[in-house]
Order: sequence, then structure tokens, then C-alpha cells
Amino acid sequence: MRILGIETSCDETGIAIYDDQQGLLGHSLHSQIDIHAAYGGVVPELASRDHIRRCLPMIDDLMAQTRTKPEDLDAIAFTEGPGLIGALLVGASIARSLGYAWGIPSIGIHHMEGHLLASELTDSPPPYPLVALLVSGGHTQLMASTRPGHYELLGESVDDAAGEAFDKAAKMLGLGYPGGPEIAKLALLGNSERFDFPRPMTKKPGLDFSFSGLKTHTLITLQSLGTVTDQDKADIARAFQDAVVETIVIKCERAILQTGFSELVMAGGVSANLELRAALAKLGQKHHITIHYPDLKFCTDNGAMIAVAGLMRQSLWDKQNWRIDARARWPMIELEPIRSP
Ligand code: KG4
Ligand code: ZN
Repeated sequence: MRILGIETSCDETGIAIYDDQQGLLGHSLHSQIDIHAAYGGVVPELASRDHIRRCLPMIDDLMAQTRTKPEDLDAIAFTEGPGLIGALLVGASIARSLGYAWGIPSIGIHHMEGHLLASELTDSPPPYPLVALLVSGGHTQLMASTRPGHYELLGESVDDAAGEAFDKAAKMLGLGYPGGPEIAKLALLGNSERFDFPRPMTKKPGLDFSFSGLKTHTLITLQSLGTVTDQDKADIARAFQDAVVETIVIKCERAILQTGFSELVMAGGVSANLELRAALAKLGQKHHITIHYPDLKFCTDNGAMIAVAGLMRQSLWDKQNWRIDARARWPMIELEPIRSP
């Protein structure tokens, strides 16, 4: 079975071809960072237009590179949601049209499930049951998953997502977009002893998160300094990152104790953060649990995760419809469990 994956939910066009026997045959990614950087965040209309420009040429190139002809493909998977509606519609229209022309099924994939299933692309995919920590620019969620495709929400952010908080704090510090990698880089030069940022919602029980207070704390800290030096910025970046990381780790520890599960998968753009990876690794040692994360290149948006999810959701292939569906919002708990083909 060979599947083409198309990801266009936000500011990256991701294309991939995955084969169930040979694994990932190839993938390509086009980031729109240069287009949106000047605005400090994603401009939805510009994102849609760029996906339109890139998508078909990237599919052509990847098919040529992997020597895949249309008749070699068994299905097409595209991101149906959640995400920016115009951007999603580009991928959905292209996937449906190619599927129709080539006479193969096209199926819509949940973006966050794609992130989670990116861990299937590693040499040792996680066994179930597991706790899933999904941390991206739009979502921060802890899920309990007893089998593939079945999710129970343990907790989520009541306001900003973790990645969004990184992006907003970076903007305040005058750093580039996306803010997560910028803060992570600057934090390496920062002194962790200088500022003490709060660990929101950790004093009370529960698994929900709140990150918007950290953004305000960043602003107040900056204002209290008056003139801000490069070292000040690095110290703030460090304090901010330490606070986000420790907060996430505290909630993960609670999720592990609550579920009794011994596997934790982290996924989504923020899972590329090395401090978070190191802190979760320590948590894993403390509780004798295994922490799984996708390869760094598959933490942020990519087509490979959509292709893999499409292959795992083979039971949907015969439920093909030709509606061009896109969903800006789509709770993951609404998904049907994945049935083996
Ligand atoms: O999963 P993703 O590529 O797109 C969404 O589905 O939202 O995640 C993007 C988010 C951005 O907010 C970005 O700042 C954050 O992931 N991010 C990071 C790092 N790399 C990307 N946050 C912290 N540290 C990083 N190294
Ligand atoms: Zn994403």
C-alpha cells in the first residue's frame, strides 16, 4: 500500500509518500516563515495563496523523486482540520481532485492525530495504552489513549496554547517568528536564577493548563526593567522557558500517576524543544516510564505524519465521499477508534 500525504493546515506545505512495506519513501516541506515573519504571525490569506502555489509542483517533484506513478498510489490523505480554514481547503480540494482523477480514495485526517502518529515513524513506535502530550501552536492537550484512534481528554489549555505563548513572548522580546525556536536559542545564554516566573495552575489539582499569565508576566518583567539589554532578554527567555517546561512536566507527572500508564508520547511543534525533552526524560527515569517523541523533523507540521495516519486509518478508505471538507475546529475525542485493516 502506498499513500500520498498532504498537509496544509497552517504555514507549512508538507507532502510525503509512505509505503507500508518500505516506510517513508520521501517527503518535502515548504515553510512560509519568510512570508509571515514581517507580520509576527501567520496571515491566513497569504498562507492559503502560498499553499495553492506550492502544493501541486511539490507533489509532482516528490512523485518524480520517489519514482511513484499515479497508478502506484492506493490512497491520498489530507489534513481536514483543525487549522486555518482557507489553508485546509487548498489541501482538501487538491486531494479530492487528484483522488477523483486517479480513481483512488482520499481521506481527511485530524491534524493533531497526525502529530501523535508521527511517533510511528520511529524505529520503536510506542505501545498502547499511553499518555499523549500534544503541544503545538494551536493546542496543548493531555490525552489518555488505550488503543490507536481512541482518545480521552485529561486536560487542556484554558487559554493560549504552549506554542502560542512561546510565539507571543518572543514577539515581546523582539525576536522572530516562530517564537519557540528563537526563545529556546536565546534561553541558552540566560541565567535561570535571575527571574522567577509562575508555574500556572500547578498549585491546584487538575490537568488543565493556562499560559496567558506567563505572557503578561513577561510583559510586566520587561516594563519593570526600563532599558532592556540583550542579557535581560536572555534571562527572561530562560525564565519563560523554564516555567513552561516545568508546568508541562508537572501536569505530565499527574497524568502518569492518574492513568497508571507507562508510556508517554509527546508530539507537536513544542515537542522539538530540547529542554522539554530533557525534563521529560528525567520524569521518565523517575517513574520508570518510556518517553516517546517523533524525530525532530517530524515534530513540527509535515506531510509524513498525515500519510502515516492515512495508512493507519485504512478502514475509512471505502467510506469515500466527494465533499470538500475542512474543519477549523475538530475535537480529537470525536474520532472513531482505528480499526485494523
Ligand atoms: O505543530 P506546529 O508546527 O504547528 C501547529 O500545529 O501549530 O507547531 C508550531 C509551534 C509554534 O508555536 C512554534 O513556536 C513551536 O511550535 N515550536 C517550538 C519549538 N519549535 C517550534 N516551541 C518551543 N521550542 C521549540 N524548539
Ligand atoms: Zn501542527
